[in-house]
Parts: sequence; C-alpha cells; structure tokens
Amino acid sequence: IQKMTDLDLAGKRVLIREDLNVPVKDGKVTSDARIRAALPTLERALKSGARVMVMSHLGRPAEGEFDEKYSLAPVAEHLSALLQRPVPLIRNWLHTPFEVAEGDLVVLENVRFNSGEKKDDEALAKTMAALCDVFVMDAFGTAHRAQASTHGVARFAPIACAGPLLANELDALATALDAPARPMMAIVGGSKVSTKLEVLNALSEKCDQLIVGGGIANTFLAAAGKPVGKSLCEHDLIPVAKALMEKVSIPLPVDVVVAKTFAEDAEAILKSVDDVEEDDMILDIGPVSAQQLAEQLKKAGTVIWNGPVGVFEFDQFGEGTRALSLAIAESQGFSIAGGGDTLAAVDKYGIADQVSYISTGGGAFLEFVEGKVLPAVAILEQRAAQS
Ligand code: 3PG
Repeated sequence: IQKMTDLDLAGKRVLIREDLNVPVKDGKVTSDARIRAALPTLERALKSGARVMVMSHLGRPAEGEFDEKYSLAPVAEHLSALLQRPVPLIRNWLHTPFEVAEGDLVVLENVRFNSGEKKDDEALAKTMAALCDVFVMDAFGTAHRAQASTHGVARFAPIACAGPLLANELDALATALDAPARPMMAIVGGSKVSTKLEVLNALSEKCDQLIVGGGIANTFLAAAGKPVGKSLCEHDLIPVAKALMEKVSIPLPVDVVVAKTFAEDAEAILKSVDDVEEDDMILDIGPVSAQQLAEQLKKAGTVIWNGPVGVFEFDQFGEGTRALSLAIAESQGFSIAGGGDTLAAVDKYGIADQVSYISTGGGAFLEFVEGKVLPAVAILEQRAAQS
C-alpha cells in the first residue's frame, strides 16, 4: 500500500477520509477518542503545506438529505479547539466550488447526506475524486464499508494512499494476529454468542487460551452443565459452545456475581458457579476467577481484548472487568483492545496508556480479527499493484 507519509503533499489538494463518527449530545462531542486518534494525520498534512479536506460520516442519517441531528458541526468545532485553528465546515461541498489555502484545513459535511454514498455510487465517487490530487484513507473504523467515501473515491482519485492512523492500525493488528508472541490469549466478552460467533471461531484457531465473558460465558457454562438460572443464555448455541471448547482452552469461572434483578442498584451476591439458583442472573465473574485469569493474562505474550466480562456499567458488577483490565495493563506482552464497549472499559479503569494499541474500530476491528478483507484496504492494495 502506498502511504501518505511517503508522499510530498505541499500545495496538493488532499482529501482525507477519517472516521469521526463520535457520540454527540446537545451539540457537543461527548467522547473524542476518534478525533484525537486522527490528529497526528491531520497535523502532519497541515505541516507539509497540503490543502486539507477532511470527510467523515456521523451516525446513520436517512441518505440523501441534510439532517441537523447528524451534522458534523460539533465535530468541526471540537477539532478546531484541539488543533487551535479555525476549522470551517463546508456544507454543500459537492455542488458549490470552494477553495482551501495551503496549510489550511476544512471539514466536509457528513458524507452520508449524499445520495449514493452507502451503495458506493460510481458517479458520486468520481465527483469526490475530482476534488483532490491525493486521497488519503485513514478511517480504519469504516474500512469494512465499501462506500463512495471509503472505497469508490479510492478507485478514481489520482493517487490513493493509507494515512498514518490506518497504517498503524493495520500494523498493530498484524503484530497481534499474524505472528503473535506466545502464549496468545483473547478475551471475547459481550452479551451474545450469536453476534461474536465468527470472532470466536477465528480466535479459537489462533489462541492458546480464549476467555469468554458476559452473556457469552453463560452459554459456555450451560454447555459445561452448570446452572445459569435466568441469566442471558443462548441455549440453541450450546452445541457450538461445546465444539469451541474442544478446539481451544476456554477457562470457565469458578465463582460468579449474581443478582435477582438487572438494575443499577441491584444487590450483588457472590456465589460458587455450582450454586446459581433459578432466579439468579449472572452479571460478573467472581474474585477467585478474576484472580486466576489475571495471573494468566500477566504472563501472556499477546492479548486481544474485545468486550467486557461483566455488566461493568454498574459498579458492583464491574470488578471482574476491572481485574482483567489491570492485569492487561501490567502485562509485558503486546496487548490490543478494540470494539465499542471495550474502549469504555479501558477509559473507566484508566489503562489507556498501558494497552499497547487501542483500535478505533468497532465493526471493522471485529471483521479484521475474523480474517475478513476490508474493502477500503483492498482497493488501496489494488491501486498500489497497478502503479
Ligand atoms: C463505527 O462506529 O463502527 C463506524 O463508524 C462505522 O459506522 P457504521 O456501522 O454506521 O457504518
């Protein structure tokens, strides 16, 4: 793949696709991790004297129409504060000519307001490509989407390359997945086996140990013949869980934290995994299990972490996730965390600086781990092969 860092961008019109799809509430950005992750790329392009145009989607608006709720205005404002320079938002950028001076940066309004974006419309992609001399794909979080601003534009831009954020993400994932330092451990948490099936399958082929957590773990406990009460559990997937347990070592909790109701103020009751009653809901792993897993994680050569092991939004059910977070932080191995909730846990337990790599991808992270081709990366490879 051609890299942005190998190109001379001075004076060039540089169109950068970022994933600035961040949570916004009452017109303010509430978590700016993705914006901060894009800063080094943007700063570098600015410093090299490029005319920088940044594009992104935000949310899932009805396509083809402007909707204030999904405007990138709060993102442009936030970016302006971080870069400490004005960041104009260009609203009607496909149909109204605009100029960007050398060493200046503008944000183009939500790409999903353009009809044809999601279906990777060729005419739309060509119009985007005509805006630039160099297209930089830097949105790892959207690289699993073949859309006009991630894939189509890369077909037609005079030059298409990977930005530093995308390149770093791909390198980190390759380090963790292609030639992992052993032992390799993965944590797959979350509520349902069904939504993580492909990830579990892919990781069971590569890992030395696979830790399951959250609702996912309950299906494995049921498969091992343990009582799960009224916990979230996919009984129809018990055979799948059994097959996975035959392929890879999947340590199951010996103690669990249960509650009678699912609520912020629910009482947390610690139990042996054999004593779960009919009206119990398993909401976290217990301290003995957490300690055992933490010891293993500290010795791991590689850790891939996706998903919490308990309902950590409620403090009394967050101790398991906290213990594993701290073990990952202490581990000397290469650790990578990715996927929606995981980053919230990383933030909550303050371990961001101790994780080797934090991915900006949710769905894209999972698809990469599953071994799927990311279309927005594949097109960059094709372009590089042609040149
Ligand atoms: C994400 O948040 O996972 C990415 O920004 C992709 O968003 P999408 O699922 O709406 O395409």
